[in-house]
Amino acid sequence: MDQGISLPTRHQNLLAWVERIAQLTEADSVYWCNGSAKEYDALCQLLVDNGTFRRLSDVKRPGSFLALSDPADVARVEGRTFICSTRQDDSGPTNNWREPGEMRETLTGLFAGAMRGRTMYVVPFSMGPIGSDIARIGVQLTDSPYVAVSMRIMTRMGAAALAQLGHDGAYIPCLHSVGMPLSDGVEDVSWPCNPGNVYVVHFPETREIWSFGSGYGGNALLGKKCLALRIASVMARDEGWLAEHMLILKLTSPTGEVKYVAGAFPSACGKTNLAMLIPTLPGWKVETIGDDIAWMKFGDDGRLRAINPEAGFFGVAPGTSDKTNPNALAAVGRNSIFTNCALTDDGDVWWEGMAKTPPEGLTDWRGQGWTQDSGRPAAHPNARFTTPAAQCPSVAQEWEDPAGVPIDAFLFGGRRSTVAPLVFEARNWEEGVFLAAQMSSETTAAATGAIGELRFDPMAMLPFCGYHMGDYFAHWLRIGRRDGAHPPKIFFVNWFRKGDDGQFLWPGFGENARVLAWIFARCGGRGMAEETPVGYVPVIGEDGIEIGGLDASADDMARLLAIDPAEWSATLDQVRTHFTRFGDKLPPEFNRLMEDFEARLAG
Ligand code: OXD
Ligand code: MN
Repeated sequence: MDQGISLPTRHQNLLAWVERIAQLTEADSVYWCNGSAKEYDALCQLLVDNGTFRRLSDVKRPGSFLALSDPADVARVEGRTFICSTRQDDSGPTNNWREPGEMRETLTGLFAGAMRGRTMYVVPFSMGPIGSDIARIGVQLTDSPYVAVSMRIMTRMGAAALAQLGHDGAYIPCLHSVGMPLSDGVEDVSWPCNPGNVYVVHFPETREIWSFGSGYGGNALLGKKCLALRIASVMARDEGWLAEHMLILKLTSPTGEVKYVAGAFPSACGKTNLAMLIPTLPGWKVETIGDDIAWMKFGDDGRLRAINPEAGFFGVAPGTSDKTNPNALAAVGRNSIFTNCALTDDGDVWWEGMAKTPPEGLTDWRGQGWTQDSGRPAAHPNARFTTPAAQCPSVAQEWEDPAGVPIDAFLFGGRRSTVAPLVFEARNWEEGVFLAAQMSSETTAAATGAIGELRFDPMAMLPFCGYHMGDYFAHWLRIGRRDGAHPPKIFFVNWFRKGDDGQFLWPGFGENARVLAWIFARCGGRGMAEETPVGYVPVIGEDGIEIGGLDASADDMARLLAIDPAEWSATLDQVRTHFTRFGDKLPPEFNRLMEDFEARLAG
């Protein structure tokens, strides 16, 4: 894909950076992505030709491809993710830190010659609708055509983003290499990477991202976790807004009233399913604005207005079915990229949970024949689909509104088999922030490491906050106290509570609409609740949580909504240890809030 010598921009700073990196990395050629359909098709064909992509059946899955990664490059690598602020204290105890000068030297060494034998793609992209006050432009340089095509789905990528930059607009430089130069004699592979040498590095002060060694998801699609969360959280702190790991949904009641909800859940805890939910409650409607990230700024009316900075969904495939998420399944019916899913013998994809019985003749995510007796999953547990948001049947008509949508409620949820009830409402902003800061969840396959361990994951931002989390808590408190602010109400949900028999008590999925309906009512000053030491818990019934037609016994419901002060008190030592990590950056208000909380629990 030769472009000759004409350059698509006169942005001198950008041109100089591209030139400098091309020289450093010794890329064979430089290609400026324009984001056209023709270019996308050509790059996909290139990926087919070099063995990264397999074209799926035009009948079963038109315009779609399957990629199988290197088995050592399958998830975000939190242990190799760094925040390089000048002062270590600014990155805080939850981030890996390296002195920026030292890290620059290491990275410069790694990137020297790293793109030998490869094309360097220049990928201009906008996070958020182009021209929105809330949006930001990034430019990713990458030697991975898989990343370039994925960025075209996940962001507004190409000529329009570049034009928005003009001659001197600000952009966030994002440098990426798979870290496998094709030096003399080195044969390329279908998924080049360098898993023993992964670096996902952020320089928050200069707002730069450098990523080396991985071609997978959040390690490589730098607009997502790196820019839209880690770097954006720093910009948001400095500029008085919020960049959060939150879905955004539009909720319409049977009378046509609308509320907007943003919800934070750790990775692989059902955010995508909730964002696309089909309510079981008659007359209610959920529409999707975003499934992973929300950027929120105050409007003139003091309300937080949210945009989804992304343009696509990079969702966990296993568990996605006609029952759990028919909208996602419809969205991925065409023009999608699948990674680490299994392949059927008629050229379609398959994953655990798609249907009860797997089809005969599957090839697993490692490219090997698979049967039910293989004793291993056919799709990797962190297998993903990458699909345009516009293809989702539930996408809200205002999902690209540059002004964003006004948020009425924040949800915080984790995966907790015990203690945390189905839903409760914080009594006020401060207490909500204090409780969100002690959120915890059982770990999932979205990141490398043990699965099912309980870890504190404040605001579901543990792996994504680009600065000291103590300062982040203070920023949240400040947001609610801003002059004229009308912050959203704060709710906590947990779909994953288990009974004594180890089974989930709540059916989840479409039934979660019952919880949303109560939240909706509370936002309108209705919805009955009882006050507990933790917050307001719904009563059961028409004025609280509607359970008519629900497949859950009265006992299960009582258990689901129970708040046991003794159980909560028993967690306080761990919470205190968790807060101690933040040292003198823990907001002083938290000490008072802790004392009050303890006293309320003690009754
Ligand atoms: C994601 C994640 O990919 O949170 O969204 O890991
Ligand atoms: Mn996520």
